[in-house]
Amino acid sequence: MYTQSLDVPDGDAPGKPALKAVARPLSAADAAAQAALQTRFDERIDADAKIEPQDWMPEAYRKTLVRQISQHAHSEIIGMQPEGNWISRAPSLKRKAILLAKVQDEGGHGLYLYSAAETLGTSREQMLDGLHSGRAKYSSIFNYPTLLWADVGVIGWLVDGAAIMNQVPICRCSFGPYARAMIRICKEESFHQRQGYESLLAQMKGTPAQRDMVQDAVNRWWWPVLAMFGPPDADSPNSAQGMRWGIKRISNDELRQKFVDATVPQARVLGVTLPDPHLKWNEARQQHDYGAIDWDEFWATVNGNGPCNQERLATRVKAHTEGQWVRDAALAHAAKQRARSLKEVA
Ligand code: 3HC
Repeated sequence: MYTQSLDVPDGDAPGKPALKAVARPLSAADAAAQAALQTRFDERIDADAKIEPQDWMPEAYRKTLVRQISQHAHSEIIGMQPEGNWISRAPSLKRKAILLAKVQDEGGHGLYLYSAAETLGTSREQMLDGLHSGRAKYSSIFNYPTLLWADVGVIGWLVDGAAIMNQVPICRCSFGPYARAMIRICKEESFHQRQGYESLLAQMKGTPAQRDMVQDAVNRWWWPVLAMFGPPDADSPNSAQGMRWGIKRISNDELRQKFVDATVPQARVLGVTLPDPHLKWNEARQQHDYGAIDWDEFWATVNGNGPCNQERLATRVKAHTEGQWVRDAALAHAAKQRARSLKEVA
């Protein structure tokens, strides 16, 4: 059974043995230069300035960004599968066209994010190797099945809605390429969320069977979506440092709470019940109280034992293997173009 722990090798390429620098004590001059770089970096973080790829950065900051951005990229491309499953069965041409565009957008988000992570010195092959070998994490939410057409609308409304809540603050992330990629991604995610909600509104105006289908999908997705924000703050090992570095701006629990508060009125307009008997407005806190999340289920899913983990990974590896000829053809075409332009220059 695979796990999803991210383990990017230190070597230059997958399959090559990792090359580790032999540690040697720093000279006094080197130590002073290092301290000055660290001070400059800390000052930039404190001033809320952007760190760019060519800037000096602590290795731990670089590693954290590669971890988070690559996990995010993997989530986008694995996230194409649950909805892609419905492209051939969408109930009308209009819904099919929307779904095709949405799934394509998710693939594009993965590509922007892999490019942002590559600026930190990790190759796309290394990141994909982490995903395909089961060492890298991707979002737990994409290991749940899409059983009904209504699941597609609920993914748009709740999963993309949760993703926006989490990702809008990342537009202010301290690392420039990640922040800039997120601005475009969030615009597209916002469209995804609205199309999901609009599709559900149409279904709720339909037959009793359609309304039951929407309620069934909401019942199955609600709790995994709340868990998707990550472990409670007290059990989140990366949060404190991520916030210190301006990578993470709002904590997992705060984002989860904001999402619940924003979603309850939307559910009311839609006419669905959120499946939580403890969900109620707390006048004193001016926020909703909600029931306990099943963290055992969350960790089982993160660690490879969710409902669809094996299927998602196998489908991803198959698509990558079968797409090898496309990558080879693109490289051969680029080489030909390069040779042609060199000939023209000569
Ligand atoms: N699924 C899988 N793993 C998760 C997780 C989830 N929903 N939530 C947390 N984890 C993992 C973390 O990656 C971390 O593991 P690691 O240390 O081995 O990398 C561990 O659980 C502890 O969590 P922390 O809260 O300490 O970790 P972070 O501070 O990194 O916070 C995060 C986790 C909130 C997911 C943060 O990394 C983040 O904001 N990432 C960027 C957004 C992202 O990746 N979203 C994924 C969904 S993308 C999407 O939904 C696509 C769209 O099209 C719908």
